[in-house]
Amino acid sequence: FNRIEDMDLDGKTVLTRVDLNVPTDNGRVTDTTRIEKIIPTVRAIQDAGGKVLLLAHFDRPKGKRVEEMSLKQIVPALEQALGQSVTFAEEAVGGPAKRAVAGMQPGDVLLLENTRFYPGEEENDSTFAASLAALGAVYVNDAFSAAHRAHASTEGLARLLPAVAGKLMEAELDALDAALGDPVRPVVAVVGGAKVSTKLELLSNLVEKVDHLVIGGGMANTFLVAKGIEVGKSLAERDMAGTAKEILEKADATGCSIHLPLDVVVAREFKEGAASETVAADACPDDAMILDAGPKTVAAINDVFAACKTLIWNGPLGAFEIPPFDAATNACAQEAARLTRDGVLTSVAGGGDTVAALNKAGVAGDFTFISTAGGAFLEWMEGKDLPGVEALADARR
Ligand code: 3PG
Repeated sequence: FNRIEDMDLDGKTVLTRVDLNVPTDNGRVTDTTRIEKIIPTVRAIQDAGGKVLLLAHFDRPKGKRVEEMSLKQIVPALEQALGQSVTFAEEAVGGPAKRAVAGMQPGDVLLLENTRFYPGEEENDSTFAASLAALGAVYVNDAFSAAHRAHASTEGLARLLPAVAGKLMEAELDALDAALGDPVRPVVAVVGGAKVSTKLELLSNLVEKVDHLVIGGGMANTFLVAKGIEVGKSLAERDMAGTAKEILEKADATGCSIHLPLDVVVAREFKEGAASETVAADACPDDAMILDAGPKTVAAINDVFAACKTLIWNGPLGAFEIPPFDAATNACAQEAARLTRDGVLTSVAGGGDTVAALNKAGVAGDFTFISTAGGAFLEWMEGKDLPGVEALADARR
């Protein structure tokens, strides 16, 4: 990839694709993580004498102007994070955008309106991409988390302008490469979450790449069913049991050890503080449901962590939103954090629920790297090429 330092940005307008798709409540940003993560790229462009022209999407307006999805609501949080004023252009292309850009000085930051207000964005239409490209001299893509979309602002622009990876893009790719591309072995992957059906490709790719695969959350129940174990009223995709079995067989063939729950926490109702008990994984009562992994499972997972050098984590081990069913996720996350602090483990995690779970466990800051990506992280873990990354790799200087 080309890097920001490779380019002459002095006095130039730098079209900088960032991900400002942040959670909001009534127009107020409730989590500024993604905003803070763009600061190094903004500073690098400013240090090189460039004008920072930010472009981003927000939510899914499907090619139409939807006022509640205007990026204008992000401006105060952006100004706060950057410690400077940010100008907002009510349009992403055309006269208003051009006039706003014409008024910029080096160091200024201008944010364009939501690129998804224009049908050409998601269609990756070349005319729309060209009208964006007309606004700047260089393209920086710092939105790894949107790189699984082949849109005009994530893919098309890299083919029209000299294109480079931003600082966050670089950091994300380096971390993912260290976790799965060219990792220090042994590698353990933790995959949790409700459904096997949404993570099939992921599981199938991982058994080829990692030494240990820990399966947790609701999807573990489907694997128990595949092994002929009754799971009572637990969430399980019985029609996926055959597929789960194929994954177990593939893991056998590739030499990947699969770790399923040994014991489980069961309850009759799914609510905070519900009466629960711990039973062996094959002893879930008919009228109960599995909501978390038990302490023997936690100990076994932590032993695997201690024996490994690299950890990649996607998905909680239990119904972590509702205590006490967050116990296994918390205990394993804390051990992963400790091993990381001790220099034993390189730990990388990603995906919306995962980051929420690690934050809840209070350990996100101890992981080697927490991805800002949800869908893109998953697709990357599935072994797919991400169009936004591919376009950067092909890009000219
Ligand atoms: C995300 O929030 O994961 C990215 O911003 C991509 O958003 P999308 O799923 O709407 O493309």
